[in-house]
Amino acid sequence: MRKMIAAGNWKMNTTLEEGKLLIKNILDGLMENPPRQQAGELEVIFGVPYITLPMASTMVKENPQVHIAAQNCYNKEKGAYTGEISVDMIKSTGAEYVIIGHSERREYFNENADMLAQKVDLTLSRELIPIFCCGEKLEIREAGNHFDVVKQQIEGSLFHLDADAMKKVVIAYEPIWAIGTGVTASPGQAQEMHAHIRRLLVNKFGKELADDISILYGGSVNAKNANELFLQPDVDGGLVGGASLKADDFITIINSF
Ligand code: 13P
Repeated sequence: MRKMIAAGNWKMNTTLEEGKLLIKNILDGLMENPPRQQAGELEVIFGVPYITLPMASTMVKENPQVHIAAQNCYNKEKGAYTGEISVDMIKSTGAEYVIIGHSERREYFNENADMLAQKVDLTLSRELIPIFCCGEKLEIREAGNHFDVVKQQIEGSLFHLDADAMKKVVIAYEPIWAIGTGVTASPGQAQEMHAHIRRLLVNKFGKELADDISILYGGSVNAKNANELFLQPDVDGGLVGGASLKADDFITIINSF
């Protein structure tokens, strides 16, 4: 069954102390305002900085609905890669998800389709779940090439997987022009792209598998627009940046399904 997911991507924000307080406030808020959906139907994910992973994993242990994600991993198993983080290290913290291919990583750290495919493979090999990000720049959309670009991103880093591996992957569509800009994709624009992504999955892996894959929308999701976006038939949740750093807003987003 396709899961609904409210995932926060904290990016390079929060010290350990700030992270602890934010998690505590969100967990307390969820106790007061529990989501209507059960664990297994709706998952909440905090994508925290590396240093926060062990503490965050411990803090959410009692709540089966809440899980922890790393925001990246390295595309090699181990060795002389000073400053990088391996999937084994992430696994050892108790985290369960890894965000892969965020547009900020593609742009500032030159991550390409092959590297991302390696990260997806390594993540799955450790039974971590990749949240694979795709999305187009504004000029690509203006030129009308957004469907093709997203297709290339998905084919280039995911379509080497077999069906067993693919069905574990979560996809996040994050149009770059909507990230951190306050300009959200309209529900219609999000639905149209999510339906396109699902069609690609149907063609490659069949309808049953495609129907089970969660496709999240990211890009200026907030407490006001989440409900309308999540109502779209192919939008299975959100990957939320700025608004995931405010406990009240993120709780409202979680309760928007
Ligand atoms: P904002 O919600 O701040 O636009 O960020 C979206 C994002 O990049 C999540 O990964």
